[in-house]
Amino acid sequence: MTVLGIETSCDDTGIAVIKATPTLVGVKFDILSNVISSQIKIHAPFGGVVPNLAAREHLKNIEPCLKTALKEASINMRRIDLIAVTIGPGLIPSLLIGVNFAKALAYKYNIPIVGVNHLEGHIAVALFSPERGISNSKFLISKQKFLPAIALVVSGGHTQLVLMRKIGDYKVIGETRDDAAGECFDKVAKLLGLGYPGGPKISAEAEKFEVKGSKFEIQLPRPMIKHKNFDFSFSGLKTAVLYLVQDNKDKIKNPEFIQELCKETQQAIIDVLINKTFKAVEKYKAKTIILSGGVAANTELRKQFEVQSSRLRQGFGGQAKFKIQFLVPTKNLCMDNGVMIAMAGYLAAKRDPDFGRGKSWNRIIANANLRLN
Ligand code: KG4
Ligand code: ZN
Repeated sequence: MTVLGIETSCDDTGIAVIKATPTLVGVKFDILSNVISSQIKIHAPFGGVVPNLAAREHLKNIEPCLKTALKEASINMRRIDLIAVTIGPGLIPSLLIGVNFAKALAYKYNIPIVGVNHLEGHIAVALFSPERGISNSKFLISKQKFLPAIALVVSGGHTQLVLMRKIGDYKVIGETRDDAAGECFDKVAKLLGLGYPGGPKISAEAEKFEVKGSKFEIQLPRPMIKHKNFDFSFSGLKTAVLYLVQDNKDKIKNPEFIQELCKETQQAIIDVLINKTFKAVEKYKAKTIILSGGVAANTELRKQFEVQSSRLRQGFGGQAKFKIQFLVPTKNLCMDNGVMIAMAGYLAAKRDPDFGRGKSWNRIIANANLRLN
């Protein structure tokens, strides 16, 4: 089955073509094309995404992206078997462009269409990460021995801990009460005048710090780390940075101060994310940890998740040994893209008994507040 994936929930227009081949033990995915039109330059002067500007850019870029995706995959619309499109959550002006475009294609070419939850897309692409190799992907889908899994989806718009009992069966066990982790990176970077998107800028500054060591002994709070629940809060961390900057106007021009501040901001976010995720892993006896979403591209976060997972595997610190695996997409698939939507769309279509009956395009509706459960 050849699947066209369309993603426009935020500021990236993503269109991809993938081929799904069912095998005796599961399914194999081949990525035929993965086109992303980034709007970073448009939103950078504002330090964040401006919804109406994002929609205008999606409208301008979506057709050229489709043409390129089809060309790179050496395919035409008549050979597409399924259209998968993000229906939410996201910015409604952006979502509507992708959804209406996808529905028009489905109608024109008479192709079944499936609506995808953006967060399920982030999770699905981790399951089929090329790093794991095809045989593992087959295994994951067929035997489901990797379940239950705990997925941490961290991006500019979301920070959610999700318990996955089956593919398609999700329960959000914790989420942010205010800013998302990526939003915190972005807002701190804006405050420090580092530019947008903030995650890569903060992490680049933090990396420079490694070499030199602590000089200013900056300490930031780890919000809600001691709370028993799995919720997060990152707006207080941003405010703590704001006060620190206001109180240290003399030091703010010192690159070493900025580097140390970035390192501490990044580590505060990582500490909270790791603490909550691994608490959930123990509580739900998870066999798999999934890290996904734009913030999952952060090298230090990936490294510390890997270290913590291997500690659990080895029974470090007197803990019982856990048979646990850690899944994270390759960095280029952490950020929003059409591949993840195509993969999740294929899985959703396969589990829908009504799939392919009637005019499926009629049932597709964008929902900015769509939930996973
Ligand atoms: O998943 P994504 O592309 O879009 C949303 O669904 O929000 O995530 C974008 C977010 C931005 O907040 C960006 O700052 C963050 O991911 N991000 C990073 C890194 N690369 C992107 N955060 C930390 N470290 C990174 N290397
Ligand atoms: Zn996303």
